[in-house]
Amino acid sequence: MKIQNIDAYQIYDSRGFPTLEVELELENGIKACGLVPSGASTGQFEALELRDGDMKRFRGKSVFKAIANVREEIAPALMGKSVFEQRANDELMIALDGTENKSRLGANAILGVSMAMAKAAAIARDQALFEYLGNGEGNLIPLNEIQILGGGAHAGWATDIQDFLVIAVGAKSYEETLEITHNIYHAAGELMKKLGKCVGIADEGGWWPDYKNNEEPFEVLLEAIKMAGYEPGRDVAISLDIAASDLYDGTNYSFKLEGKTFSPDEFYDLMAAWCNKYPIISIEDPFADTDFNNWKRFQKEFGSKVQIIGDDLFTTNIKRIEQGIEQELANSVLIKLNQIGSVSETLDAINVTQQAGWLPVVSARSGETEDAFICHLAVATNAGQLKVGSFARSERQVKWNENLRIQRKLGAKARFLGAELYRKILRLD
Ligand code: PGA
Ligand code: ZN
Repeated sequence: MKIQNIDAYQIYDSRGFPTLEVELELENGIKACGLVPSGASTGQFEALELRDGDMKRFRGKSVFKAIANVREEIAPALMGKSVFEQRANDELMIALDGTENKSRLGANAILGVSMAMAKAAAIARDQALFEYLGNGEGNLIPLNEIQILGGGAHAGWATDIQDFLVIAVGAKSYEETLEITHNIYHAAGELMKKLGKCVGIADEGGWWPDYKNNEEPFEVLLEAIKMAGYEPGRDVAISLDIAASDLYDGTNYSFKLEGKTFSPDEFYDLMAAWCNKYPIISIEDPFADTDFNNWKRFQKEFGSKVQIIGDDLFTTNIKRIEQGIEQELANSVLIKLNQIGSVSETLDAINVTQQAGWLPVVSARSGETEDAFICHLAVATNAGQLKVGSFARSERQVKWNENLRIQRKLGAKARFLGAELYRKILRLD
């Protein structure tokens, strides 16, 4: 089944920023699209998202060069190739780009084609995308990590911490995780509005808070969990994305909200104190992507109690993940397609993570689209966890809803492990 045509055009993400949609057509007329997401608190080791930088067009954010690269370079190179050769075709695009970080053609250009190719291939095989990507082996419905309050780069630095999230560790089914999260999200919103602490909605759909320090949100979270009728720690645990690379200047960490500066040792002590004080099951990027000493020390002290996720630390890059495994820097990897820029490399990143006995968490970006590719990726690989922002706004809900459809399609074959999956890395008792 040969690729007959590839086209790209500009569409707009959940922030209204330009991104590209790639449409790929097969010789029998089957067509599929890949929609490319975009981050705001991006890691320095990510593959490059090519933007035009022309301030007269979309304030520098248009992607017309990436679109031209799809039409003029990638399309001619892939014309006539088999759509089922995902890996060979991805490698061809990577070689055509010729740079370490996909900066010539753009990771956004390459990823859009790569995603559209996988989807078209699935249709051609008459399979759901998760079946095609997982060779029929994927059947694990993920446990959700859902944002209640947004901060950092996603909420004008209302808090220095980027995400305050919950994980419904007591849930026995995927549906129950959604019900629990729905109840907590709305309880938190009511509580914050009553106290005059809610300014609006942050980029990923969570509440945009107005607090004086970074610890007050914990109290709201705990209160909201209880108000909704759940026991913190038993039914619902707290999860954080510190996004600490954004707080680090190469020497120290700082909280702008509180006007405080921390040495790496002091910041370590703060992260440790929070993990001891609050029912935290998962923490992402507690330290900067270059502060390996702290990562190592933290994994040693908390790695059997808390899921420690590297996002900016690893940027879905196989070499960086392998280095992290070797040096025992964490026990989990955040997986984002556009950090590395192709479907094959993303599958490899998940595989390397799982082979080491670590847990992958498949993730959306803060700038999302109506594409639910990541749900299929998570189920295909039995990744077990999904992070998509909050429980509001359609670019988020399209993912939570797609999991329901995948579960229906799987029928009796669908599995849900919930928090049991943490037993692979944590001592839960
Ligand atoms: P980003 O945020 O998409 O803006 O990078 C998500 C995250 O940090 O996990
Ligand atoms: Zn992150």
